[in-house]
Amino acid sequence: MSVLTRARALVEADRKLTHASPDHAARPKPQPARIIAIANQKGGVGKTTTAINLSTALAAAGHSVLLIDLDPQGNASTGLGLARNARGHGMFAVLAEGYAIADTLRDTMIPGLSILPADPDLAAAEIELVSASHRETRLKEALGAWAGLTSHQFVVIDCPPSLGLLTLNGLMASQDVLVPLQCEFFALEGITQITQTIEAVRKRLNPALSLHGIVLTMYDRRNNLSDLVAEDVRGFFGKKVYETVIPRNIRISEAPSHGKPVLLYDFKSPGSQAYIRLAAELIDRMGLSPGPVA
Ligand SMILES: Nc1ncnc2c1ncn2[C@@H]1O[C@H](COP(=O)(O)OP(=O)(O)OP(=O)(O)O)[C@@H](O)[C@H]1O
Ligand SMILES: [Mg+2]
Repeated sequence: MSVLTRARALVEADRKLTHASPDHAARPKPQPARIIAIANQKGGVGKTTTAINLSTALAAAGHSVLLIDLDPQGNASTGLGLARNARGHGMFAVLAEGYAIADTLRDTMIPGLSILPADPDLAAAEIELVSASHRETRLKEALGAWAGLTSHQFVVIDCPPSLGLLTLNGLMASQDVLVPLQCEFFALEGITQITQTIEAVRKRLNPALSLHGIVLTMYDRRNNLSDLVAEDVRGFFGKKVYETVIPRNIRISEAPSHGKPVLLYDFKSPGSQAYIRLAAELIDRMGLSPGPVA
């Protein structure tokens, strides 16, 4: 079965969950997109995996989604099949060279999902912008000037594993932060830094920002530690913690090497099903259910 046929099948399957229309063109014009930063300064907790697969599941549910790869590692771009040498102008061009968002977007194999890739120069952005004016609001300004902001329902930003200028640009441009938290020892200690940063940015720089939610990732039901961590985090953060938990699943880790979201790589895998549930829960929590914003 071709990738597109599988994508269409995916749209149909997810539509049943959300009752959304897969017809992107016929949808009524919505309000500006919800901009969601996926952030955690800790490395390897599932930010990029969540950004790719949540975006895919939202697009499959009939929403127009832009995924922004704000990480110089470029894993979200690669994971969606955009090889390093095939990306053209991307995030660096927007942040440092004044390119318009519209001139850097690329279609993906998923109907309704486009990507603003990390170009190979992005690693230099932190240094390049150090003495630039408006350096922390470059992404916010570019998104504000982008006509597509009102024809998309979601912008999902994959932040790098640091709290530097790139992540700050992500937080300044967003209303919501979704924090992936790996089910491991010291999980709670790790999360304090990002929640304090969100609070500091909200107080001083971007009053619209809030911690939208925490997603437990790489949950292993054979491991008691996963349960203890989940219990701890839920005890501390209460309803901020998503009910949907992303299991540790080999198909999730295999998918990027095929340049595909896990939803296209193995739709029936527990990982895919979890990300579909995560998208449905996000739509529900944002009050956007049952379908695209009218
Ligand atoms: N639920 C999962 N089950 C199995 N493997 C996973 C799962 N989630 C992520 N991984 C794997 O764990 C690794 C780290 O995941 P990912 O790249 O999404 O984390 P990250 O937070 O974006 O990392 P970085 O901080 O480097 O940007 C990757 O190899 C990914 O394939
Ligand atoms: Mg990443």
